Amino acid sequence: MRIPLDRQSPKPVYLQIRDRLRHLIQSGAMQPGERLPSIRMLAENAQVNKLTVIEAYGVLEADGLVSARQGAGYFVNSSSIPAPQSEPTFAPAQDVIIPQQRSISFFDVYADSMLAQTQKGVINLGCGFPRPPESEDLRRIARRAIADIDTALFNYDLPQGRLVLRKQIAQMLVWQQGLQVSTDNIIITSGSKQGLSLVMHYYVQPGDWVIVESPTYHGAIAVLENLGARVIGIPMTATGMNLELLEQYLGSHRPKLIYTISTLHNPTGITTSQVHRQRLLELAEQYACPILEDNAYEGLNFEPVPAPIKAIDRQDLVTYIGTFSKTLMPGLRVGYMVVTGKHYRPLVERKLLNDLHVSTVSQAIISEYLASGHYRRHLNHLRTENLQSRNAMLQALERYFPQEASWTVPNGGLFLWVHLPSQLPMEMIRQEAIAQKVVMSCGSLFFPDQKGYTAMRLNYSSTPAEIERGISVLGQLLKKYL
Ligand SMILES: Cc1ncc(COP(=O)(O)O)c(C=O)c1O
Repeated sequence: MRIPLDRQSPKPVYLQIRDRLRHLIQSGAMQPGERLPSIRMLAENAQVNKLTVIEAYGVLEADGLVSARQGAGYFVNSSSIPAPQSEPTFAPAQDVIIPQQRSISFFDVYADSMLAQTQKGVINLGCGFPRPPESEDLRRIARRAIADIDTALFNYDLPQGRLVLRKQIAQMLVWQQGLQVSTDNIIITSGSKQGLSLVMHYYVQPGDWVIVESPTYHGAIAVLENLGARVIGIPMTATGMNLELLEQYLGSHRPKLIYTISTLHNPTGITTSQVHRQRLLELAEQYACPILEDNAYEGLNFEPVPAPIKAIDRQDLVTYIGTFSKTLMPGLRVGYMVVTGKHYRPLVERKLLNDLHVSTVSQAIISEYLASGHYRRHLNHLRTENLQSRNAMLQALERYFPQEASWTVPNGGLFLWVHLPSQLPMEMIRQEAIAQKVVMSCGSLFFPDQKGYTAMRLNYSSTPAEIERGISVLGQLLKKYL
């Protein structure tokens, strides 16, 4: 176990050891029931006196985080793990980014990720999709969904989507998100990507300024670039978009849209607080700037999250988008938008002009998942598996990554974001990792200028065994270049 100590620090060494172990326990990197290193081993490792370790373990015990078992050592208490939180200290320094032109196209990034998906034996920590549902369940549900084949299922349908599915989504948003919406506020889209594109084209004209978080989902930046918008990347802090900078740029550039991923952000995994959401909305109201709230990772939280910004929107400024891609299957291409007030009709018309409507068969399969209760069960299962995998990744990062690396501890979603020393040649490391059948995403892809600070995005939805191997390969490569 690595315990970095600062011998010059005024903080006593036993408290530094206590802090490090407390961090490992509270972040989930050390699991309930796990044995702490023996006093002798830790003393040797950290090159301190055994009494210092005894003192550190004593304080951890007094704090209720660990317990001593006669003759067996110290163990992590099961009741000592609070809800995992984003590390409050995680805020790499960065400036506002106003990019010129991105050199790597979204098409190439997407094509690369499709290629990785088809290759056998690859550990894919770079992708943006979840573990697929049990194929037996899927087969049964798909069969049932199309069993009562009537002509309607294979005919044209409404551009806003099938009534039954819109009703189910509205109900789901109430129980899952605390978002009070009605069937008439829902538009079913071909994945949330289509929703995102429809909304961006609705609010933004070529040459307009648009605010995004920096880093953010690269697929959104690509749509904005294609539409001729000028992007302003406001730095993400540990608690969300920097709101002072946002206010400054709302005043100076009068943007036409704010794009935010408020919950389980891609790529950092950060979820903003209720206070942050409230303030963001107040600023948008003050400058009459619409918000596109992308909640693609909706439902994948381990602990409760605040209601979406849309839930407190009283002026129809916020368009909310969600998807079944990250919880069920991206291939079905079913997402949805929540649109209120005068914006509903023009957006339905745009949807109609775009592709008439989403596949009725895909909509029927999702409907059956929701009606049969399988969706809830599947979500519970997925969350449990993802939590185990996230913890496995945190442990592996502690074990294999260089000391200089730091990372977020997301409360769900699929990703963890690692901040790395600036001198690392990330593209070279990515290529070398691919040669060893491990795929990761370079952080640069998610910054508006495709540069940003040095980072990587890791998807933790693989199995713990795959994670262990993948992170050990990446850790070795990082250390080689340090
Ligand atoms: C933040 C975010 N929004 C939207 C999407 C698009 O997903 P889909 O169109 O499959 O719903 C993604 C996919 O990675 C994403 O990460």
